[in-house]
Amino acid sequence: MNCETLDWAILDRLRAGFLGGATAIGPYWQSHADLAHYDATYAERIGWKWDAVLHELIRRHWRPRTRSILDWGCGSGVAGRRVLSFFGADKFDSLHVWDHSPLAREFAAERAHTEFATLAVAPFADTGQPVGLLVVSHVLNELPPEALAQLLGLVARAEAVLWVEPGNHAVSRQLITIRETLTSSFTIVAPCPHQGACGLLAAGNERHWCHFFAAPPPGVQNDSDWVRFGHRAGVDLRSQAYAYLVLEKKPASTPLPDNVSRIVGRAEHFKGFARILSCEAAGVSSLELQKRADTDLFNILKKDSSYPLYRWTRDDRGRITAAEQV
Ligand SMILES: C[S@@+](CC[C@H](N)C(=O)[O-])C[C@H]1O[C@@H](n2cnc3c(N)ncnc32)[C@H](O)[C@@H]1O
Repeated sequence: MNCETLDWAILDRLRAGFLGGATAIGPYWQSHADLAHYDATYAERIGWKWDAVLHELIRRHWRPRTRSILDWGCGSGVAGRRVLSFFGADKFDSLHVWDHSPLAREFAAERAHTEFATLAVAPFADTGQPVGLLVVSHVLNELPPEALAQLLGLVARAEAVLWVEPGNHAVSRQLITIRETLTSSFTIVAPCPHQGACGLLAAGNERHWCHFFAAPPPGVQNDSDWVRFGHRAGVDLRSQAYAYLVLEKKPASTPLPDNVSRIVGRAEHFKGFARILSCEAAGVSSLELQKRADTDLFNILKKDSSYPLYRWTRDDRGRITAAEQV
C-alpha cells in the first residue's frame, strides 16, 4: 500500500457511506478506481480479520469439503482471495463472485483471475444448485430484508459458510440471531465452543456481544504508509474487531472436544487479576484469573486474548485455578 498514490476523495466518500448508512440506497461503487483504492486499504484491513479466522481453522485442521467457492457481496473480492490463499487454490475448482454492483463483480473476478490463474473464476449465476463454500464478508448492515432473505437462501444451500462481519454490538447480535436459526442443519465450527443456544441471549447478557480482535500482520504498525493511512482515515490499526461464524452442513468433520471455553472480546486486567467473559456449553460467565494462578497466561492475555480455546479448572467462586490451551 502506497499512501502517496491514494485518492482520498474516493476513500473519504466510501467511508462516509459505510459509516453514514448511504450504502443502503443501492450500489455505490462508481469506478474501477473506487474498488482498487478500497482493495488496497479498507479491504486489506478486513483481510487481517480473515487471516485471524482462517489461522484458527487451519490450526484446528478444519478444511472445506467442497471444491467451489461463492463470495457473496464480494466488493473487491478480498474474502474469496484470502480463503483461496489459506487453503490453497489447488484445493478448489472454481470461484464465483456476486455483488449487486456489476463493477464489483468484474473487479473481484479480474483480481482473482490474476492471482489464481488456473482457477475457473466467474460471476455467480444462481441456477438453484447447491452452493459449495459460501464466503460472506461485511455485508450485513447493508442488506434490506429481501436481500438478507436471498443470502439466507444461499446459506441453506451451502455445504459450509465462512462469514466475517465488523465486531460491533448491533452486527454481532444480528449474526447471533442468524446462528440460532441454523443450528439444526449446520454444525457450528466457530466461534462457538458448543452447539447449544447462544449464551449471550440469556437474560442479563444483553450488553455483551460476540466479538474478537485481529492484529495486523507484523510490520504494519511500523510501516509509514499504513501509519499515515491510519491517521488520515481515523482508524486504529492495532486491532480490528470482528464477529464471525463458521458453519458446516451436518455432520461436521471435526467436532470440538467437550468442556471447551472461548474468551469473548478481551480480558480486562486489574491489579493482580484479570476478568474474562468465557463462553462454553453451560453459558457465558464472567471468570477471574488471579495472576498468581497462572502468571504466563495472565501476561499473554494482556497482550492478546486471541488464542481461541481453553479448558478451565475453576473454583465455585468463578476463579480459574488452572488453564489448558486446547
Ligand atoms: C462493505 S462492502 C464489503 C465488500 C467485501 N465483501 C469485503 O469484505 O471487503 C459490502 C458489499 O456488499 C455489497 N452489497 C450490498 N448490498 C448488496 C446486495 N443486496 N446484494 C449483493 N451485494 C450487496 C456492496 O456492493 C459491497 O460490495
